[in-house]
Amino acid sequence: MHSTSQSTSSTYLNRHADIDNRVQDLLSRMTVEEKVGQLMQLDAQHDLASNIRDKHIGSILHTSPTNLIEAAALTRETRLRIPLLVGEDCIHGYSFWPGATIFPTQLTMAGSWDYDLVRQVARITAIEASATGIHWTFSPVLCIARDLRWGRVGETFGEDPMLIGELACAMVEGYQGSGLNDPTSILATAKHFAAYSETQGGRDASEADVSHRKMRSWFLPPFEKVARAGCRTFMLGYQTTDGIPITLNHWLLNDVLRNEWGYKGTLITDWDNVGRMIWEQHLQPDYTHAAAAAIRAGNDMIMTTPNFYEGALNAIHRGLITESDLDRPVRNVLRLKFELRLFEHPRTPDQARIAAAIGTREHTELNLRMARESLVLLRNDGTLPLNTQGSNVSTTAQSFSSVTHDTKPDQQKPIVAASVANQHTLALIGPLADDPKNQLGDWAGGSGQVSWIKEEPRETVVTVRDGLQEALPHNYSLTYAKGANILTLEADPAGATFPDGQPRPPIQTPCAPDPHMINEAADAAANAETTIVVVGDVIELVGEGRSTATLELFGAQTALLEAIAQTCHDNHHPWIIVLMASKPLVLPQCTSQAAAIIWAGNPGMQGGRALAELLLGKIEPQGRLPISFARHSGQLPIYYNQIRGQHGSRYADLTQEPAFSFGEGLSYTHVDYSNPCLSVEGRANDNIHGGRLQDVHMDDILRITVTLHNTGQRPCVETVQVYVRDVVTSVSWADKELKAFQRVPLEIGQEARVSINLPVSNCTIVNAEEKRVVEPGDFDVMVGHSSKPDDLLPVGFTVVAENR
Ligand code: NOJ
Repeated sequence: MHSTSQSTSSTYLNRHADIDNRVQDLLSRMTVEEKVGQLMQLDAQHDLASNIRDKHIGSILHTSPTNLIEAAALTRETRLRIPLLVGEDCIHGYSFWPGATIFPTQLTMAGSWDYDLVRQVARITAIEASATGIHWTFSPVLCIARDLRWGRVGETFGEDPMLIGELACAMVEGYQGSGLNDPTSILATAKHFAAYSETQGGRDASEADVSHRKMRSWFLPPFEKVARAGCRTFMLGYQTTDGIPITLNHWLLNDVLRNEWGYKGTLITDWDNVGRMIWEQHLQPDYTHAAAAAIRAGNDMIMTTPNFYEGALNAIHRGLITESDLDRPVRNVLRLKFELRLFEHPRTPDQARIAAAIGTREHTELNLRMARESLVLLRNDGTLPLNTQGSNVSTTAQSFSSVTHDTKPDQQKPIVAASVANQHTLALIGPLADDPKNQLGDWAGGSGQVSWIKEEPRETVVTVRDGLQEALPHNYSLTYAKGANILTLEADPAGATFPDGQPRPPIQTPCAPDPHMINEAADAAANAETTIVVVGDVIELVGEGRSTATLELFGAQTALLEAIAQTCHDNHHPWIIVLMASKPLVLPQCTSQAAAIIWAGNPGMQGGRALAELLLGKIEPQGRLPISFARHSGQLPIYYNQIRGQHGSRYADLTQEPAFSFGEGLSYTHVDYSNPCLSVEGRANDNIHGGRLQDVHMDDILRITVTLHNTGQRPCVETVQVYVRDVVTSVSWADKELKAFQRVPLEIGQEARVSINLPVSNCTIVNAEEKRVVEPGDFDVMVGHSSKPDDLLPVGFTVVAENR
């Protein structure tokens, strides 16, 4: 018999009892309906009361400020008063709380290559979200971005497994803080497990054709790293792989994750993965079979499949699964709730903490730091930083100050000021120069996933226009013209909703160039000494289900760039491109005439301020590309760590070289690399033969040392990158892989000898038996500024065969 009421003497309510005993006690009191409900996470925007009362759900997501309070009250009225786990997509900051801090997107942040800063971003996100009653974020994303057409490239840390693993660990550490019993910690989620990004033609959630060896070679290592670092939850990708939906992939969930890696955390499906097996992938006949299959495969929590409730109960009734099959996943969910101490401290919205935590000055400062470090300078003919010498502009970055908006953005008219002696004019052009919504990108107030927030408060976002207005010296005037529209939305003739009731996005139709807007922009450029053009992508072209077939600038942007290129050419004026794009885009031919190009990604609320500082030389560019840029979408995939072996090295009609390579990024100075050396830690005499360090053992730690010399007139932070090539491998392998990096600050003229350690045990391949091994033989180590061959200096070592 199940007990029907709780008493304070119940073991599960005893805060001093052992967690396993509390879980067992509570489990023994639950009805089968309560157990099924406990495994369900539903969208708090719909049927909140009935889902809590009648379906006994264990978790909610997408919960508005009002719903957070309502949900807590409803839970208190339930029979066992099991607290809800409240999950949210806090993806680059706390996405859906008005005024909360929105940082640069994950791909943009990856440009910083800065573990500690990324960790601090996640910590701040946890502090803000936990104050409002959020316990769980569905972040970080560990997908490897290889097909740039995929709509979710901007949610990733880019294309390199090592960089992804490092930065993902930083985020997990930041979210989970000092442990789950810290009231400011939230659960992190490693997603989307695994190879979800390996799409067909970039189409979101399509079959990922990935062998087990390929999984182990590239897609699994970042996940293994965070699993071993204690990430408490994993989210399963939408897609099928080798015919099996990840939701039912026994090999991945059980053989690899739980058994091989010893993972003890909780698994959550992605949005309606269970339903999709029926209506999208046509792999299950109905909810009864789909629910039973999901439980048998080892899932713990089922996200947003309302029919799972009836399906699972029916499956038990029909003998497809037993009630005791529910006990393992229910335990996994309850354990999190006890570890978070939700029974003692339900962590419901705390008004005092909210007031003290959301969007504080300190958080804004860190956001600005992250934006500054993320910007990647891709080209510069010396035009940048803009020469404001003689003006009253400071050359060191200052703390932020607030920007005031006297007029609404649509009331602001371009002002074209004439240049007179000692008066200067800068033209700021482009649809993204003053667009607070699209600057933030996906997973922010304006990105459309939730109903209660349409946009972030205007005063929380500093656009490029705001930033320049704030930072320009008094003798500079800024003229602004939008110059181009990007798209309009048309209803999809296939209908307003998908079969699961989710709204079907409208179709994006490119805007034609508007001669009036282009002329206005060209006039502004003609009358200015320098022109800055901010182009890129908008939220309708970014995100889930929004992959793009092409990578070209959408709408009238190319025509605008061509007009600016022509005008600046005719007037002998330099022009600069700021690419505010969620992912690498293909730039049109005319951009070869631009004096400078900056990739800003989606730079977050402080992005415009950081960009203004960079343009004016108040800060040094530091960012490095976490992903390669293609010259043409026909070059895809263009990632740097490709497998060796093909006929020739170029297309008949195009080079295979990317437009910009992984690791690239300029500063305002020049750093010389020289004298690279290799030694083994703790070994007195190095045995060098034929330029290679000999007798290296698998458990040795190599030390790579190189001299850096800042030969220019500005300080910098140089990111020293170490790549390794295994010269001959038993199976095909990448020609080079990033194995280590270090950010090194250098003063003007400074010379520094930099040492980086590299364990030989990291120089692995995955062999034909799917085992990760170091194969004896010769290795090249390449150290330098980026993954480009010309940027790297070689050294080498030879690993001896060992009997192990
Ligand atoms: C679907 C997305 O794929 C996932 O990343 C997100 O966390 C969930 N929806 C919840 O919104």
